[in-house]
Amino acid sequence: MANVIVVGTQWGDEGKGKVVDILSERFDVVARYQGGNNAGHTVVVGEEKIVLHLVPSGILRKGKTCILGNGVVIDPADLLYEMEQLRRLEAKFEGSFFIGKNAHLVMPYHKILDVERDKGQRKIGTTGRGIGPAYADKMARVGIRIGDLHNPDLFREKLFANLAEKRAHQPASSALLGLDPEKIYADYLGYYQELRPYLVDASLVLNQFIAEGKSVLFEGAQGTLLDVDMGTYPYVTSSSSTAGGACTGTGVSPLNIHGVLGVVKAYTTRVGEGPFPTELKDELGERLRIRGQEFGATTGRPRRCGWFDAVAVRYSTRVNALSTMALMKLDVLDECEKILICNGYRYRGQVIREFPTEAGILKECEPIYEEMKGWQEVTQGVLDYDELPKKCREYIERLEELIGVDFSLISTGPKRDQTIIRKTQTLKDWGLVD
Ligand code: IMP
Repeated sequence: MANVIVVGTQWGDEGKGKVVDILSERFDVVARYQGGNNAGHTVVVGEEKIVLHLVPSGILRKGKTCILGNGVVIDPADLLYEMEQLRRLEAKFEGSFFIGKNAHLVMPYHKILDVERDKGQRKIGTTGRGIGPAYADKMARVGIRIGDLHNPDLFREKLFANLAEKRAHQPASSALLGLDPEKIYADYLGYYQELRPYLVDASLVLNQFIAEGKSVLFEGAQGTLLDVDMGTYPYVTSSSSTAGGACTGTGVSPLNIHGVLGVVKAYTTRVGEGPFPTELKDELGERLRIRGQEFGATTGRPRRCGWFDAVAVRYSTRVNALSTMALMKLDVLDECEKILICNGYRYRGQVIREFPTEAGILKECEPIYEEMKGWQEVTQGVLDYDELPKKCREYIERLEELIGVDFSLISTGPKRDQTIIRKTQTLKDWGLVD
């Protein structure tokens, strides 16, 4: 069996959770490699609905191992809350859940800084979870790794120094001034005691699994266009959400990874600020939002909606070298009379086909559309590709042509089994279909 990375190809929320949920049945290990509790997807088990932010949903499958790699940032209070909810659903953590001890912690001051800075001209529209400030400390080499709490004196020293340094640059009105470092110290040592049994050298454990012939699914959070290097900077998250992040975020070499599966929605969404050329600011955008239930799983914010942007997805195909893709939420377009696909931009009189990653340029880009007729039939729950309406297949095939990658999975509804699985060569090579 292969080791595969699942990556978002747009601005996040493509439906990676469902894809990972389906695929995790066939993999032994699921590893998160970046991001933190800014990510979120809803899992429905029987009557219970819970939102997972950090723990891969694979934990709900018996015999599967889940790992948070060193590239993830961890808010320990949130992680423990999530674990408690999952235990009620009979998830088993002992022996099947591991946390990289070099993963950095999200501290209370990170959350305050995130919220207090995300205003005015420089607003990014973050999730307010402290993600940016936590990664900033990591890169500035002053961050606190979860494994540091093994040495309470070292932890204390770092915590007090960090808080003093951050307070020094804040106005008197900042909530930072109200933080009590003694309380943070005691709280975090408490969290550490609870999480300690799960701490490991994530790279060592993952490479041992691989050496034993176990298969690993690397679960990316957010999407390519939110990657700190490859995305629409500064309107990005602060981690490497492209396929490359899977290696640095886990300590597994690219030579031990066999392919990349990109997840793409049949239209486009974005949460927060930043350029979005195909955004629909009209009633149609609102209809997509309602039909697609496009509200953030973490913050509940309405997502901005728009047409499929083939220029952007072609870019994702390039930077991730996608082997194949999963097309999600196709049924959301069922009622559309016509469907537009963006296949180029007009920028200051010029036509461009390559995605510009400078936010200033992208902001000025006008989409060049091609129009297709909608199928206006119900596709929800269709399981056989040939049973999709002809116009729907034409849409899918046009997308494949424009992107240059095939769709191995096509999702026709929110449930796990509302998925068309095609016997593509890639899935055969990965040992996922016969
Ligand atoms: P942060 O990751 O909280 O710093 O937010 C930075 C940007 O990434 C904001 O525009 C967020 O809306 C966006 N973002 C972060 N996580 C997600 C996600 O899981 N889905 C979609 N957008 C996200």
